[in-house]
Parts: sequence; structure tokens; C-alpha cells
Amino acid sequence: MKPTALITGASGGIGYELAHLFAKAGYNLIIVARSEDKLIALKNELHDHPVTVIAQDLSKTGGAEKLYNRVKELGHTVQVLVNNAGFGLNGKFDELPLAEQQQMLQVNVASLTELTHLFLPDIKAAPLFDIPKGILNVASTAAFQPGPRMAVYYASKAYVLSFSEALVEELQGTGVTVTTLCPGATETNFFKRANAENTKLVNTTMSAEAVAKSGFLGFVKGKRVVIPGTLNQTLSIAAKVMPRSFSAKLAHYVDK
Ligand SMILES: NC(=O)c1ccc[n+]([C@@H]2O[C@H](COP(=O)([O-])OP(=O)(O)OC[C@H]3O[C@@H](n4cnc5c(N)ncnc54)[C@H](OP(=O)(O)O)[C@@H]3O)[C@@H](O)[C@H]2O)c1
Repeated sequence: MKPTALITGASGGIGYELAHLFAKAGYNLIIVARSEDKLIALKNELHDHPVTVIAQDLSKTGGAEKLYNRVKELGHTVQVLVNNAGFGLNGKFDELPLAEQQQMLQVNVASLTELTHLFLPDIKAAPLFDIPKGILNVASTAAFQPGPRMAVYYASKAYVLSFSEALVEELQGTGVTVTTLCPGATETNFFKRANAENTKLVNTTMSAEAVAKSGFLGFVKGKRVVIPGTLNQTLSIAAKVMPRSFSAKLAHYVDK
């Protein structure tokens, strides 16, 4: 029997590339996003590979539970959960609509937490395969510092990193690994969606393919935290040692 990997946000960007990598490594796939047409196109690209498409909006309360119930109805058991779906919003906290920021928290934080809670018992109970089982959560280098003009987004990613690192400890000895992928700026639809196309962040992007490869290899090796690219690794170390007031000012400068 082959293990199944469920990947949220597989309709584009990093999640799309991760789907290709998990398929190539032999995992059956369940791919999730709102854009069903894009998910079907991805399934077609993977030809005869076993792929289940589930269109689900994870910004809605109850979206994670609906997704879990659908997976069960279809008779699947998930051994790898990739919480990749997420988005950012660029602008001052008090000027961005609260409802949109709440939706972002629902996708980036609440649905990620709920999906982990729902699928973890199945992942724990799954037998050990010759390829790993576990969780791959997509955070960001934003997790390491405060982010003026993207305050809620940066805070949401700090949550993902802290939550995931705590689970690593809780799951010691269970055979379940938890890896957090912390990409820096990556060439995807992220900046357009965030209305951040004109910020300095877009000057130092990595390809989604390279970021996904780094995250996939880190997951397979059971790494705790993966930061793709030397520049991102260096900046993350700098963010850890510099005063947070200064790193907030720096983030404010590049987010303009
Ligand atoms: N690109 C970057 O610079 C960067 C840097 C650090 C971290 N990240 C993180 O990487 C992850 C992937 O983002 P990306 O860069 O690949 O951006 P992307 O190309 O915009 O992809 C985002 C994915 O999330 C899905 N998604 C968004 N809202 C959703 C919702 N309400 N319900 C279900 N799925 C939803 C999108 O699908 P639909 O629109 O079809 O629903 C899409 O598949 C995110 O968590 C992001 O925060 C990105």
C-alpha cells in the first residue's frame, strides 16, 4: 500500500510544485484549494497517478472539518498532511478590512490547526512506510520577526512555526515527523494576492520549484525547520540576534 499525502493550496505556486514532488516520490495525492479547474488540470498533468481532487474554501468556519469528512466519505486515510494554503495582505493593520484579515487568520492559522487536529490521529495510527509519514507546515521567514504593513500575516506565520515546533516535541517516539518550511520571497501569485507587487520584497525571489524541493527534501529527512536559500538563512539568523524593534524597522523598509 502506498501512503497518501493531502496537500492544501495545490492549485498553484509552492503547493503545486510540492504535489509534483510527492507524486514523483510515490505518494497518492489528495489535492485541495478553491480553484477546482486548476486542481483538475494538475491531476491531468499527473496522468495515471492516483490523485483525488477536493475543492474546499479554507477561509470559511467549518471548512477544515468539511474537508476531513469528505476525505473519510471517499474512503481515504491520510499519512502526510501538507498545510500549505495561505495568503498575505499588504497594508496598515487599521486600514485593511478586518473581515479579510479574519479570513487570512482562518486559512493561515485556524484551518491549519484544525486540519492537524483532525488528521493527526490517522497519521499516528498509520504503519511506518519506506517513505515518511508526518506533517509539513508552510510558514515563512516572516515567522522570525514582526512585519509592519503585514502585521497579521507575519504574526500568523510566527504561530505556524511555534505550533509546529511544539508538536515536534510532543510527537517524539511516535514515528510522526513535523517539518516547518520557512520560505522567503518566492515567485508565485502570493504578491499579487497580497497587493505587494511593488514592494522591495519581490527583488530577491526564489522559484517555487526550488522552494518546494527544499521543503520536500527537508520533510523526507525529518528536519524540524527548513529555510530555503542562503540569503534567507542569513537573514533569519540576523533576525534572531538583532533587537526586535530594529528587525521590525527593517521589515517595514522592505515591505514598502
Ligand atoms: N510566495 C512567497 O513569497 C511566500 C513566502 C513565504 C511563505 N509563503 C507561503 O507559502 C504558501 C503558499 O503560497 P504561494 O506562495 O504558493 O502562493 P499562491 O501561489 O498564491 O498559492 C496559494 C495557494 O493557497 C490556496 N488558497 C488560498 N486561499 C485559500 C482558501 N481560502 N481556501 C483554500 N485554499 C486557498 C490557493 O488556491 P485557490 O486560490 O485556488 O484557493 C493556492 O493554491 C502560503 O502559506 C504562503 O503564506 C509564500
